[in-house]
Amino acid sequence: MERTFSIIKPDAVSKNVVGAIVDRFEKNGLRPVAMKKAQLSKEQAELFYAEHKERPFFGELVGFMTSGPVVLQVLEGDSAITKNRELMGATNPNNADEGTIRYDFARGNDDLSANAVHGSDSPEAAAREISFFFKDEELVG
Ligand code: RTP
Ligand code: MG
Repeated sequence: MERTFSIIKPDAVSKNVVGAIVDRFEKNGLRPVAMKKAQLSKEQAELFYAEHKERPFFGELVGFMTSGPVVLQVLEGDSAITKNRELMGATNPNNADEGTIRYDFARGNDDLSANAVHGSDSPEAAAREISFFFKDEELVG
């Protein structure tokens, strides 16, 4: 069993597809062990995405991630980190494989930041990102 961290981003929340995305996780062996809706502050978004600080899209990304509420989750399952990345699809939804979350819920979005979901890309990132948003006692199951 492994745990990973997921964000359902503001574009997907505003399209009312939170349930559909959670269903995708559950049907593919990823169980939410923590879940909350949140409005990220600029400071939180900047710290969370600090690895991208020097990238040209950083300001746009932070602006987008704070543009509306998100859903934060810890997902548990076999190979949860890799499995979640597979379910998500490519960063640019217009390049994502058919049947992935980004293909189904973010294809055609103009803004490259607006790609429906975030998922940890390594065990180190998962550990950092889970503890960034959740206390140990909030992880249930
Ligand atoms: P994420 O971290 O959100 O799970 O996405 P990722 O690993 O697939 O992509 P990453 O390279 O880590 O980029 C983080 C997020 O920044 C936005 N982005 N915008 N305008 C651009 O060129 C651009 N490139 C990336 C996306 O929201 C991406 O998910
Ligand atoms: Mg990333």
